[in-house]
Amino acid sequence: MIKHTLITLALTLFSSATLATDTAQIEHGKTLFSSGAQPIACAVCHTLQDAGATGEIGPNLNEIKPDADRLRKTMIEGMGVMPSFAAMDEADREAIISYVTHVTQ
Ligand code: HEC
Repeated sequence: MIKHTLITLALTLFSSATLATDTAQIEHGKTLFSSGAQPIACAVCHTLQDAGATGEIGPNLNEIKPDADRLRKTMIEGMGVMPSFAAMDEADREAIISYVTHVTQ
């Protein structure tokens, strides 16, 4: 009985900690998308409603709804006018990916 309670408690603590991390990561991704990403913030070129971004140089992300693999590949390799974001911290890149997929998928 006690063991069961402890397991339940541990699972509850674990999942709320995971949830808090996810939320923080998504918020961080939003900030980077809007103004922090180097060399240029995504918002300058892309439209994304949740971020209030209205860039028109690249495709509208609400319309193309890119999945994580597509975002990762494009950010690392760059595409046409879009620069590569390979020099960014991987954790920061993943935060942007979490954010964009969270608000578009
Ligand atoms: C200087 C402008 C610019 C910036 C900054 C920029 N992009 Fe792009 N992006 C583009 C353009 C232009 C394309 C289309 C390229 C083409 O089709 O040749 C594109 C394409 C994409 C695509 C679609 C790729 C595909 O498979 O068709 C995704 C996803 C994307 N960008 C995400 C991002 C994210 C996330 C960021 C920020 C980390 C970002 N972009 C920053 C201009 C930009």
